[in-house]
Amino acid sequence: MTISFDNKVVIVTGAGGGLGRSHAIEFARRGAKVVVNDLGGEVDGSGSSSEAVNKVVKEIADLGGVAIPNGASVTDDAGVKHMIDQTIEEFGRIDILVNNAGILRDKSFSKMEMEDFTKVTDVHLIGSVKPTKQVWDIMKDQNYGRIIVTTSSTGLYGNFGQANYGAAKLALVGFVNTLKLEGQKYNINCNILCPVAYTRMTSNLMPPEAEQLLTPSSVTPAVIYLSGENAPNGTILCAGAGVYSVAKILESDGKNLGLKATAEDIEKNWDKISDFSDAKPFNMGSEQTAKVIEIAMKSE
Ligand code: NAI
Repeated sequence: MTISFDNKVVIVTGAGGGLGRSHAIEFARRGAKVVVNDLGGEVDGSGSSSEAVNKVVKEIADLGGVAIPNGASVTDDAGVKHMIDQTIEEFGRIDILVNNAGILRDKSFSKMEMEDFTKVTDVHLIGSVKPTKQVWDIMKDQNYGRIIVTTSSTGLYGNFGQANYGAAKLALVGFVNTLKLEGQKYNINCNILCPVAYTRMTSNLMPPEAEQLLTPSSVTPAVIYLSGENAPNGTILCAGAGVYSVAKILESDGKNLGLKATAEDIEKNWDKISDFSDAKPFNMGSEQTAKVIEIAMKSE
């Protein structure tokens, strides 16, 4: 079934270039009214400019779509509030929020200044929390919403030089793990995109040939799917170069070593404890607690 966004309103943060621009254009093509947000700074988060957002808004207008520019920083309370007020004033509702804005300050951990850490976590984590907080009650009241955060393989698995970025990106998974539960009864589905694409952020981390394959437009269908009426809830959808996959946090079945177990017992039983052949995901923390209790109650 065609996924259409007629009469739907979407905010895409960091949509002045790269992945965000691609998402914004595709939403507009599919009938959404789009708020194109971007601070317009450098990859490291310095500076600001309205040039990029204005260009994307014009591109959308040239395609016959509807879009307005917004230059707020996603970390700025007043700016984020203004973005939400502006969206409601202009379009009357907010159906979809795509938290995509991001920066990089790569350095090995020993060389990383605390400011590099806090700035990166501020933009990725707090810069997703603030817009989400502002739209949450609006979506609750209208009994409909789709929220996407953007994680990274660095958050899920790690990468050299990206302790700050990885911490922020996995924090977003933790954020959605709870939002998916709280939003469910209001028809607010929250999901996580794990993209890979050749953009200004990654162009110096990838060989030039990657540009042909790792196109932003080959990630955007994942965002469109996660924004549709039939979107899943709480899923990590990985997308890049036309390849789509789902990531999950799994836990091994475990072994009951008893209340008196020692560290040496753990060492002795490591193979069984870390055996993933019966590993399971959980939908919420209490399910994991219930599993622990169930296994503990079984006599060895
Ligand atoms: P990009 O640098 O082209 O886009 C990021 C955009 O966010 C920029 O236009 C920038 O001006 C904007 N931005 C930065 N700070 C902002 C702020 N405080 N407020 C508003 N806008 C702000 O990079 P790309 O690759 O398109 O990244 C998009 C998202 O995807 C980021 O969250 C990034 O971490 C994530 N990602 C990208 C991957 C890739 O392979 N390109 C891999 C994994 C995640």
